[in-house]
Amino acid sequence: MGKLKIVTILGARPQFIKAAAVSSVFSSHFEEILVHTGQHYDPNMSAVFFEELTIPNPKYHLNVGSGSHGAMTGAMLAEIEKVLEMEKPDFVLVYGDTNSTLAGALAASKLLIPVIHVEAGLRSFNKAMPEEQNRILTDHISKILFAPTQTAVQNLQNEGITGGVHLVGDVMYDGILHFSKIAREKSRILESLNLEAGKFLLCTIHRAENTNSLERLTAIVNGLNACKEPIVLPLHPRTLKYIHDYGLKLSDTICVIDPVGYLDMVRLESGAKKIVTDSGGIQKEAFFLGIPCITLREETEWVETVENGWNILVGADQTKIADAIKNFNPSGERKAYFGEGNATQKMIETIKNQH
Ligand code: UD1
Ligand code: UDP
Repeated sequence: MGKLKIVTILGARPQFIKAAAVSSVFSSHFEEILVHTGQHYDPNMSAVFFEELTIPNPKYHLNVGSGSHGAMTGAMLAEIEKVLEMEKPDFVLVYGDTNSTLAGALAASKLLIPVIHVEAGLRSFNKAMPEEQNRILTDHISKILFAPTQTAVQNLQNEGITGGVHLVGDVMYDGILHFSKIAREKSRILESLNLEAGKFLLCTIHRAENTNSLERLTAIVNGLNACKEPIVLPLHPRTLKYIHDYGLKLSDTICVIDPVGYLDMVRLESGAKKIVTDSGGIQKEAFFLGIPCITLREETEWVETVENGWNILVGADQTKIADAIKNFNPSGERKAYFGEGNATQKMIETIKNQH
């Protein structure tokens, strides 16, 4: 019997990083065809990850680009459908919760091709988030649901999804175990920014609810401006645009840089005294690396990191942000909520058994 054929849909930065952990291992088991929707397209939001993390080249580039949610998702849906009709895969695999995830899952489901959802079962219980809508819809049309945590399994159960759910751990944990060693050897970002490990904070902001609100983004910037220590801020293009449009001023202690590659990012994370972020993936990476995380949201999907004491939710509250930057100093053991770093191997066994 030939290898099973899997079409994998990628489009946004966190998906490239998840694929980096998975695709190189998949290649000796499956025929995997990568499709890049083009949701992220700037070289430092896309190409850098394919180059430095040696992700196989996508066979298809759909070049969909930016747009409103409906226009973007619709354009992807039409283009992905054409690819699937040509390739006729055994499975379509999607990661996470972006518009590319939903478009891939919907295109496959309509053609009756079984969908594999990696990072299934995550919930913020805030349906105003585009990501929450994408996750719920994707989970409900998926055939194989790879849950990263026990909480995710429970969330699915609560929505009546029990068949096809497999608790395998988190592929981002597989990724960081592999890449943090390489980052230590290869990244020179601390030297080039003149930073000393343990003496700076790292911050990222890109979540729509924070960037698209003058009130929230102003409060976040004020909270960061109150910090006396250096803060490195690799800025998502969306946030750069809004900071400029709103005329917000950042203090001199904040070092704004372009988005960085993953190896530089992991080096910055590992060296940071604390991380301030609204990213989903970075909350987990902070936990994996044992760096205190201050989350600029009211809720999180990664509740374990908060329960275990290593993550604090401060929303967009200027006083809480400034206070956490000064005083949030967790300690204590981090529990193995995210598996043992072998999520990809477990996924491979499950997919083979399913067919
Ligand atoms: C998307 C995901 C979000 C994920 C994030 C990861 C959705 C609904 N959101 O948010 O879940 O956390 O990616 O980074 O899918 N832009 C550029 N260059 C690029 C990409 C984007 O300039 O290469 C700018 C454009 O102005 C674009 C804006 O950023 O309109 C937002 O991009 P979009 O992909 O819609 O959403 P993200 O905020 O990146
Ligand atoms: N990341 C990166 N460079 C950056 C910012 C983030 O490599 O400048 C990585 C980060 O380490 C994590 C992933 O991108 O692995 C998270 O993506 P993002 O925060 O864009 O999206 P989210 O996880 O919130 O969906």
